Amino acid sequence: MKNKLLALSIALSFMSQPVILHAEGNSKAGKEKATACAGCHGENGNSAVTNFPKLAQQHASYLIKTLNAFKSGERNNPMMSPIAMGLSDKDMADIAAYYAEQKISTNSLPVLQKDEDDDEDDSEASASEDIKELLALGSDLYRNGVLASEVSACIACHGPFGEGNRPAAFPTLKSQHADYLIKTLIDFKSGERSNNSENMMHMIAKKMTEREIKAVSYHISVMK
Ligand code: HEC
Ligand code: HEC
Repeated sequence: MKNKLLALSIALSFMSQPVILHAEGNSKAGKEKATACAGCHGENGNSAVTNFPKLAQQHASYLIKTLNAFKSGERNNPMMSPIAMGLSDKDMADIAAYYAEQKISTNSLPVLQKDEDDDEDDSEASASEDIKELLALGSDLYRNGVLASEVSACIACHGPFGEGNRPAAFPTLKSQHADYLIKTLIDFKSGERSNNSENMMHMIAKKMTEREIKAVSYHISVMK
């Protein structure tokens, strides 16, 4: 009976059944434990501060993987590392189950910083032009990558809607804060964040220009 159930749950985990992978985590217990995280990651995992990533709706598989990386030191952050060190496997599974069930909030369109030396009337018009251009570039890059510089298309792993891939623990990206996305891609590019398997994200980000990073981050931040 046990073996049958195990085989069934393995089979189901490859279908898009959200319940199965969280089976070991208890989201009710996770909700209690996540009160320790709310100060930075917000009520229900929708952080208000744009450098603190939203955790709502993130795949439990990725949350557990990345919390373990903070705990072991594979991924470093002065705020997160000590917190992850205090979490047991059960805590991580419970908290991940809780956040995976929350709904991510949407973002408003990013606002470009005006150049200081720009004339005021002008800069507003050109900023909105520039945002449209950046979003179009970002959307194209997300879907098609960049042929000339061999940047892979994000869609291949993060999905047409930025939904990631749960069984593979590829993170969902849609509606994440643009500021966090930009920071993270720059960390991948510089090698500051190096815990990704086979250095996949480093290989991709290192070929991207800062403008491309900004463009694709803005695009992802308004994907729903
Ligand atoms: C003092 C603020 C703070 C607190 C409290 C905090 N975090 Fe974080 N967390 C951060 C920051 C900042 C980052 C981004 C780190 C980076 O840039 O790599 C982060 C990143 C993460 C990530 C990675 C998200 C991703 O998309 O890769 C996870 C998962 C996470 N935190 C979980 C938790 C959990 C669970 C708790 C509570 C037990 C918690 N955090 C408490 C500040 C905090
Ligand atoms: C070959 C598969 C693959 C492709 C293509 C890919 N990614 Fe990723 N991406 C990953 C994996 C795997 C991770 C998780 C890394 C880890 O283990 O921490 C990731 C993580 C990320 C993260 C960090 C998310 C977070 O919450 O911290 C961002 C941002 C990201 N990718 C953006 C992109 C963008 C933008 C593109 C396209 C230019 C792209 N990725 C293309 C596999 C891929």
